[in-house]
Amino acid sequence: MNFKNKAVLITGASRGIGKAAAIAFASEGANVGVNYRSRTQEAEKTLSELSGHGHKLLQRDISVKEEAKALIDDFIKQYGKIDILVNNAGIAITHEVDQIDFEAWASAWENTLQTNLFAAANLSYLAAQHMIKSGGGNIINVSSRGAFRGEPDQPAYGASKAGLNALSQSLAKKLASHKIFVAVVAPGFTETDMATETLTPASKENMLKETPFYRMAKPEEVAHAILFLASEKAAYCSGTIIDVNGASYLRS
Ligand SMILES: NC(=O)c1ccc[n+]([C@@H]2O[C@H](COP(=O)([O-])OP(=O)(O)OC[C@H]3O[C@@H](n4cnc5c(N)ncnc54)[C@H](OP(=O)(O)O)[C@@H]3O)[C@@H](O)[C@H]2O)c1
Repeated sequence: MNFKNKAVLITGASRGIGKAAAIAFASEGANVGVNYRSRTQEAEKTLSELSGHGHKLLQRDISVKEEAKALIDDFIKQYGKIDILVNNAGIAITHEVDQIDFEAWASAWENTLQTNLFAAANLSYLAAQHMIKSGGGNIINVSSRGAFRGEPDQPAYGASKAGLNALSQSLAKKLASHKIFVAVVAPGFTETDMATETLTPASKENMLKETPFYRMAKPEEVAHAILFLASEKAAYCSGTIIDVNGASYLRS
């Protein structure tokens, strides 16, 4: 896949899946804007691992709408265009309905939706304005298997990802006439800090048994699907949702 001189903005690219996508796009010739929220050291390390030149760190908390706007403004100032937006940044908060008080419940919903859904909607809007003017682009959203199978301990997470799927499919229809293609990658458990930092040996064993592969996805495998959907020849896949979950949850 050739992304030579493409301007690619990836949210949450300091580590995990976003980092793997940044490395993959850079190795195909893209100029990558590496957004992150707070872990500057990790973001700098990611930047140092990107091949080629023309990459830039963009620290912004995208859950704040003014910061999302500033992120797109900074990116356009740097590259003069935005060809590909990858809405990857996400958070998962445990908030069990039978365990926590109302304040904690309401705050988990607010924080999760602001990062996982509202930020993606705002960034998609802002990026689309530039893509419409420049004649097209790609928006790839990183959702989750949890959108389909239910997330009993993290219900806001599951709902945010189901919302992200619906947002993506609505925009795929609305923006096709502007040559803006919108698609989704829905990973299952992927070997990143987000997935592994809360695992106990017992929960890890249960998770591994969910898939006949008996392993987690590698971030590079998810990145590969992101690059495919962002590639020129995948335009007609607009609106699709690609599962990368090792056959752990098969939708009909
Ligand atoms: N890992 C999995 O098993 C799995 C499974 C299904 C779906 N996913 C989805 O894949 C995506 C990436 O997950 P991951 O496992 O790679 O996560 P991760 O390792 O926790 O990394 C999350 C990234 O998002 C950034 N981020 C979080 N909130 C942000 C905000 N408000 N503004 C800007 N950046 C923000 C973080 O920046 P800082 O480090 O600076 O805070 C970090 O770069 C998420 O959308 C997640 O829901 C993951």
